[in-house]
Amino acid sequence: MGSRVGVVGAGYVGLTSAACLAHLGHHVICVDNDESKVEALRAGTVSIVEPDLPELVREGLSENRLVFTSDPGSLHECEVVLLCLPTPPGTDGTADLGVLEDVLEKLSTVLPPDCVLVTKSTVPVGTAARIPALAGLASTTVISNPEFLREGHAVHDFLHPDRVLVGAAEPDRESADRVAALYAGTGAPTLRSDSASAELAKYASNAFFAVKLSFVNTLAELCERVGADITKVTKAMGMDERIGPAFLTPGPGWGGSCLPKDTRALLRTAEASGVDFALVRDALRANEYQHAIVMRKIRRAVTGAVDGSLSGTRIGVLGLAFKAGTGDLRDSPAVAITRRLSHHNATVTAYDPCVPASNLPDLNGIRVVNDPYLVAKDASAIVILTEWPEFRSLDWTRLATEVEQAVIVDTRNLLDERLLSGTGFILLGTGTVEMDRAKDAISKPHTK
Ligand SMILES: NC(=O)c1ccc[n+]([C@@H]2O[C@H](COP(=O)([O-])OP(=O)(O)OC[C@H]3O[C@@H](n4cnc5c(N)ncnc54)[C@H](O)[C@@H]3O)[C@@H](O)[C@H]2O)c1
Repeated sequence: MGSRVGVVGAGYVGLTSAACLAHLGHHVICVDNDESKVEALRAGTVSIVEPDLPELVREGLSENRLVFTSDPGSLHECEVVLLCLPTPPGTDGTADLGVLEDVLEKLSTVLPPDCVLVTKSTVPVGTAARIPALAGLASTTVISNPEFLREGHAVHDFLHPDRVLVGAAEPDRESADRVAALYAGTGAPTLRSDSASAELAKYASNAFFAVKLSFVNTLAELCERVGADITKVTKAMGMDERIGPAFLTPGPGWGGSCLPKDTRALLRTAEASGVDFALVRDALRANEYQHAIVMRKIRRAVTGAVDGSLSGTRIGVLGLAFKAGTGDLRDSPAVAITRRLSHHNATVTAYDPCVPASNLPDLNGIRVVNDPYLVAKDASAIVILTEWPEFRSLDWTRLATEVEQAVIVDTRNLLDERLLSGTGFILLGTGTVEMDRAKDAISKPHTK
């Protein structure tokens, strides 16, 4: 017998939670204040790119276990309500809880007295404990249940999580049981803690990923200087169980809607608590520097010199999303670098399999095309910024005939010399030996 569950926010986390909980047998009402999104969802149309999500939404609708509405009043009979709202960075980097507070005000007159409120959004330490002090919520129990899903794998991660983390005060044990029971169908281990520890665990996890990525990006730079190959270095590191292979691939910088904002927010929490978390601060600094490193490499690829001018050059960009598997452009390093190229008066043509030309964000006049081969037209370099596996299967011989100069800057080490063999392309990888060998070739660019 499923629970009556409310979900507020129908974004990556909220929509995935709503559709998956309905799939697990619960009756779910999903509220979003974006009327057009609600309309589309009622018709079974999902605007975000997430494998299996449209199918689960349509399954929930057809089996009457999933309802979409813009009216928070519809939650008046819910046993549990999950808050899946945005918590963007405020001006100083601290999480801005404005949206959450507005919604809580509305819910205070709606929720039944025994309803359990759950913070699934990433919220600062102490938020769950503070909510009952807000007007009208004194008798409401608030449980912290942070979400760890990855975009591009959201449904899989929700239904097969490594653990379900439920943070509650000791007297709220029964309410915590009710929240844990929502996930019983996943068979995942439940980890119980106090709410502050659960809230901090989410920030700590994302900050740890950020530190690991900044470490590997800087290590890649060191590899280039000393003639080592990052792919071999990280392979050896990753086989050590104490390190593990995940998050050991260099790139143009880490981004997305969570890592940068959560890392900054953790830093602000540390500062406010008198803790000097220098490691996290340096990870952020290294990430900003990473964009400059990529720009230097592009300049060298295009002009033969790290400080050469990009003005008037044509650059083809492959990938705009912050990582493969998603169309999410929020805080994407690929977008940041593309903007920088445009700012330096390069003419940029970009392609991303999940960013249709018809659905353009504001990209400073950068031309986004629906055909990857168009980015090569008269390009002085092709730059790979997102690790879409399908870029490996492009016809690189055909691309070579289109370019002005056959050079690839591969910020993700997606390609290798074997794949490009016979195409005429020079490959500038990231922290690789190929990169080192390419240096000489690049000082005499290969033009058609
Ligand atoms: N995206 C991720 O991969 C991810 C993973 C784990 C945790 N989180 C956290 O989960 C939270 C939500 O993130 P997201 O990526 O799902 O955000 P999102 O921007 O994709 O979705 C937020 C949704 O809330 C809706 N909304 C905004 N104001 C509202 C209001 N007043 N009433 C009702 N609906 C409202 C928006 O229309 C949108 O549909 C954030 O705290 C984020 O840090 C995100």
